Amino acid sequence: MKKTDRVLIFDTTLRDGEQAPGASMNQREKIEIALALERMGVDIIEAGFPVISPGDFDAVHQTAGKIRNASIAALARSVRKDIDAAVQALKKAAAPRVHVFLATSKIHMEHKLRKSPDEVVAIAVDAVKYARKFVSDIEFSPEDASRSDRQFLYRVLEAVIKAGARTVNIPDTVGYAVPEQYAGLITGIMSNVPNISKAVISVHCHDDLGLAVANSLAAVKAGARQVECTVNGVGERAGNTSMEEVVMALRVRSDFFGLSTNIKTPEIIRTSRLVSKHTGFVIPPNKAIVGANAFRHESGIHQDGVLKEPSTYEIIRPEDVGFSGVGLVLGKHSGRHALKERLKQLGLSVNEQSLDKVFERFKELSDKKKEVFDEDLVAIVEDDVREIRDTWCLESLVVTSGTNIKPQVEVCLRSDGKLSSRKASGDGPVDACYLAIDQITGLKGQLLNYAIQSVTQGQDAQGEVRVRVSFNEEKFTGIGASTDVIEASVKAYLNAVNKACAVKDAKGNPAAIDLGLQP
Ligand code: KIV
Ligand code: ZN
Repeated sequence: MKKTDRVLIFDTTLRDGEQAPGASMNQREKIEIALALERMGVDIIEAGFPVISPGDFDAVHQTAGKIRNASIAALARSVRKDIDAAVQALKKAAAPRVHVFLATSKIHMEHKLRKSPDEVVAIAVDAVKYARKFVSDIEFSPEDASRSDRQFLYRVLEAVIKAGARTVNIPDTVGYAVPEQYAGLITGIMSNVPNISKAVISVHCHDDLGLAVANSLAAVKAGARQVECTVNGVGERAGNTSMEEVVMALRVRSDFFGLSTNIKTPEIIRTSRLVSKHTGFVIPPNKAIVGANAFRHESGIHQDGVLKEPSTYEIIRPEDVGFSGVGLVLGKHSGRHALKERLKQLGLSVNEQSLDKVFERFKELSDKKKEVFDEDLVAIVEDDVREIRDTWCLESLVVTSGTNIKPQVEVCLRSDGKLSSRKASGDGPVDACYLAIDQITGLKGQLLNYAIQSVTQGQDAQGEVRVRVSFNEEKFTGIGASTDVIEASVKAYLNAVNKACAVKDAKGNPAAIDLGLQP
């Protein structure tokens, strides 16, 4: 294969990303993310590990049926039943890829697999040959490659390429590598695996030492041409290589790397927000590329410089990643048209009916807050505009709480025009509210994750709450925003409740629900 100057982006948000504790997503959320990745120009979307569960199988199957402009990969151990499940799940894919893996480090072979090196080579070759009977695009990963004996690794790679693997991935499974050494491993593979020109070298790094992006970049500089990564760097333990960081590093420093990707970078922010929303993982404000502060200049000297010439302190134009401006956008006197235009610039498309709701919330907020920022608008839209009917709405909330008293709340909800209220007490005011809501709705939710962050700065900032709640084993993310954090917590929980109700109602009419903001 000819060495190109294009780096393929293999996104594993839906597989390795989903392995992050608490990140599991439902089918609709996964499909929405897959569509966003396709729109972004990702080359390969790893949609799941089909043999693991019927849910994972279904996610790969559905994604494969919907995505036309990216390859869909399914993970499989080097075991026939895994490969069969992957092949079945990929049946409808326009460009299917089976991703087979088997550990090659001494530690894994001895303690986990209990197999000799010769047995491992034989199993890997058999798995690749077997998968090749059904699908031509096979990727092989020697798990824990960075801690594997180099000579043995070369031997495995040569054998699987001979067996038909088109991509060989070099995982730094435990995030142990450092850039120079990892780059050396890639160079070693390129000069010691005789048939390496027949395969693309891929890299897959974990961030246990905070080096995943640096290792991936060092590897592409050395000759790797596929990077496996996740949006926002979500993933097992400390996470995976962050897609947006690798893509922007290759773009901004093309003078150094001389490489490009197919990613439409203005889609980055929108996709990052979607992943944050569906995983329930809040993006840290200082996160490179997608953090709320990534393009904010606080110091007077910097502000002065940026105003005179943005390139003094900005190496990326905010619009290149989809930030369409920061700062004060609208005020109390802004009209519906101005709001609509601003939402459009932010990449948030809402229909006319939803716009009425958003406008109402915007007016309420601009009465409470002096300044309404872009982030406030995004929070309103995520909080209020859903293509699902709200079965339950918050009518009123009374909270009594303090240092030496058990919190007491009274929650009143509206459903189909009828009001129902309950009093409850709990470990804290939020817990008490959730108990009261469960009593009213008759749905027992198990709170898996709760995160709160300030949407903007200042004492009058809105608080945004994200929850992950399980109802009868099915998990839903809820988002709620308000200047009152208890109210935001209630709205987030109700958002998850309403998604659960919508799924229940739509059984038999699955096309009726759409839980996200489609562009
Ligand atoms: O980290 C790892 O080794 C993996 C493989 C399955 C590619 O995720
Ligand atoms: Zn991994």
